[in-house]
Amino acid sequence: MPVLRCAVMVLTLCCAAVQAAPPCRGQADGIPAALTQQSGDVARGRAIVANRQLGLCLLCHAGPIAEERFQGNLAPDLDGAGQRWSAAQLRLRLVDPSCFNPDTIMPAYFKTDGLQRVAPAQQGKTILDAQQIEDVVAWLETLRGRQQEHAP
Ligand code: HEC
Repeated sequence: MPVLRCAVMVLTLCCAAVQAAPPCRGQADGIPAALTQQSGDVARGRAIVANRQLGLCLLCHAGPIAEERFQGNLAPDLDGAGQRWSAAQLRLRLVDPSCFNPDTIMPAYFKTDGLQRVAPAQQGKTILDAQQIEDVVAWLETLRGRQQEHAP
């Protein structure tokens, strides 16, 4: 029964994939604890996302930052992210997006191990520091949908 065998194979493969998905860094779904003592600053977070040297988020994402033209369309619009994800999930997504999607094109903003082709000057450094991660999480949490413009 080739059809049956095929179905069994597909099932086996699916199950294997589910089992292989490791709880990332011991965090199944998110990082509940803030990375810093000082809580995140919404305005600073917005500025980091808007900054083409620092966050570079708008290369791939669009977001409610009206003054920035030429926003990205390779990734979901950031607006509503605060509704779709908890702070813990947003934090893990920034620290290491490969926890959610092993093939993601999104950079890991707070990770130094397991990376490939790191420029010598960047060796051992994270793209953002812990406080900047908290600032960006704080801003993302305010994004609740298309209605309001989120001024700094
Ligand atoms: C090189 C492209 C790229 C860059 C740069 C990038 N991202 Fe992403 N991001 C993605 C993609 C693609 C996804 C969709 C999920 C996946 O494939 O990982 C995503 C998913 C997300 C999500 C979840 C979206 C949702 O609501 O479903 C958030 C939040 C996010 N990114 C925030 C950021 C922030 C903040 C920055 C900058 C600090 C950033 N990203 C930089 C490509 C990028």
